[in-house]
This record gives sequence, structure tokens and C-alpha cells, in this order.
Amino acid sequence: MRRMTGVFVTGTDTGVGKTLVSAALVRRLAQTGHRVGVMKPVETGVDAGALDESDAARLMAAAAVNDSLDLVSPYRFPAPVAPFSAAEAQGEHIALSEIVRRYERLAARYPCVVVEGAGGLLVPMGHDWDMSDLISRLSLPVVLVGRVGLGGINHALLTLEALERRRTRVLALFLNETALSTTPVQRKQCASTVALLKKRVSVPLLGPLPYQLPLEGRWNETVEQLAGSQPISELAELVWNAGEETS
Ligand SMILES: Nc1ncnc2c1ncn2[C@@H]1O[C@H](COP(=O)(O)OP(=O)(O)OP(=O)(O)O)[C@@H](O)[C@H]1O
Ligand SMILES: [Mg+2]
Repeated sequence: MRRMTGVFVTGTDTGVGKTLVSAALVRRLAQTGHRVGVMKPVETGVDAGALDESDAARLMAAAAVNDSLDLVSPYRFPAPVAPFSAAEAQGEHIALSEIVRRYERLAARYPCVVVEGAGGLLVPMGHDWDMSDLISRLSLPVVLVGRVGLGGINHALLTLEALERRRTRVLALFLNETALSTTPVQRKQCASTVALLKKRVSVPLLGPLPYQLPLEGRWNETVEQLAGSQPISELAELVWNAGEETS
């Protein structure tokens, strides 16, 4: 029997495209007949008046699941700051055990659960723990989303080094074009990010996912379209097969 699997999607930074990549990934898995659950353990900067635009709601829509929002997204805070500070601002604290408990409920429902982090790997979650501790506790392999363009190489290498130190299995480094490259210099910067990272990383390198224009107001259509793209199909295959290997 196939054992349960899943993946933790982390990023080299906030805003690098974790939600877009995760949403397209779960859409692809669902389209190819796989039952997949989603989780966004902590989300900050949540506008209660625009819950549909939250990462959790976007992931649920892409996976077409109807679990309760509280199960998928146990900690939501309005302040757009790091999880630890956002929780403190509400007089709350984030309990690792509570996230694990809800993750296990989802893992019992789905053969695969895609979990999206918040910000990057070392984002503080409590006074003595961070996102990397959650990843270790969930024992999930990681997909690292990083941007192409200036700064992308250093951020990706730093995060991969930190993951390696923690002995976290990395399924892939997924590169995303988070800004439109309009000039030849910008295009050169993107190409050199990909070329140099290819030489320096030992994990599979996927992408770059091209910049999508326009995304504003077309989130669902873009996710649907990206689900059929080559980098997302390759990612879905990697994620699914990572689970098969353990069966
Ligand atoms: N390839 C792309 N083309 C166009 N826009 C993109 C692309 N990737 C990301 N974006 C845009 O950049 C912004 C950040 O992306 P996203 O929300 O996926 O990042 P994130 O890593 O999930 O951020 P957070 O840390 O807040 O969860 C969004 O507005 C998204 O629509
Ligand atoms: Mg996100």
C-alpha cells in the first residue's frame, strides 16, 4: 500500500512565489487524478475582509478541497509581520504541537499534503523556534522556491546550505521569475542565475517559471494555465514520485 507523502514549500524570501507555485502544483496533481490536501500553518497579513485572497483560500481552491479553513490554516493574523511578532501582537502564541495535530488529520485524509510555509526558512515562529523546526517536526521533504534575477543565487545557496545543515531532504529548487525582464541586461541576469545555480547545486533545478502578465484579477486562470506548464508538471512528478519511493 502506498504510504502517505507530502511536501513543504519554503522560499528564499517572502513574495518569491510560494503560493503561486504551490497552487499550480496542487492543481496539477488534482488534474492528474491525485487526491491532494493543502495546509498553510501560519499566515500573517490576513485581511479578514478579503479571505478569498489569502494563501490558504487560494490553495484550497486550487486543490478543490472543502476541509474547514481552521484545519488548513490554524493560525491567521492581521499584522503583516513575522509569525512570532504577528501572534504576539494578538496576545497569542503559535503552538507547534497544534500545527502537527492538524497536519496529521489532513495527512490521514489525503495521500499527499502540500504545506506552504510563511516567508523563508528561518522565520521566527516562537521565542525559541522557527520555520525550519516545523519542517523537521513534520518530517517532510522540501521544495525551495527562489527568484531568478539579481540576488537569487546568493539567497538560494544560503537557504540550501541551511537545509543541508538540518539534514532536510530537498526535492528541488524551483526558480520563479517574479518580475518582468524587459531589458537585455535583466534577461542576462536571469539567464546567469539559472546557469550558475545549475553548476552549484546538487538538487534538481526546475523552471524558471516565466513572469505571468497580467496576474492581477486573473489568479485562478493563471493557476489553471500554469498547472499544465512544463516546470509545474515536472515538479508534480517529482513530488508524487518522492512518495512512491517510500512505499
Ligand atoms: N511568475 C510570476 N508572474 C507574475 N507574478 C508573480 C509570479 N510569481 C509570483 N508573482 C506575484 O508575486 C506576488 C508574491 O507571490 P506569492 O504570493 O506566490 O509569494 P509567496 O512566496 O507565497 O509570499 P508569502 O511569503 O507572502 O507567502 C504575488 O502578487 C504573485 O501574484
Ligand atoms: Mg504565500
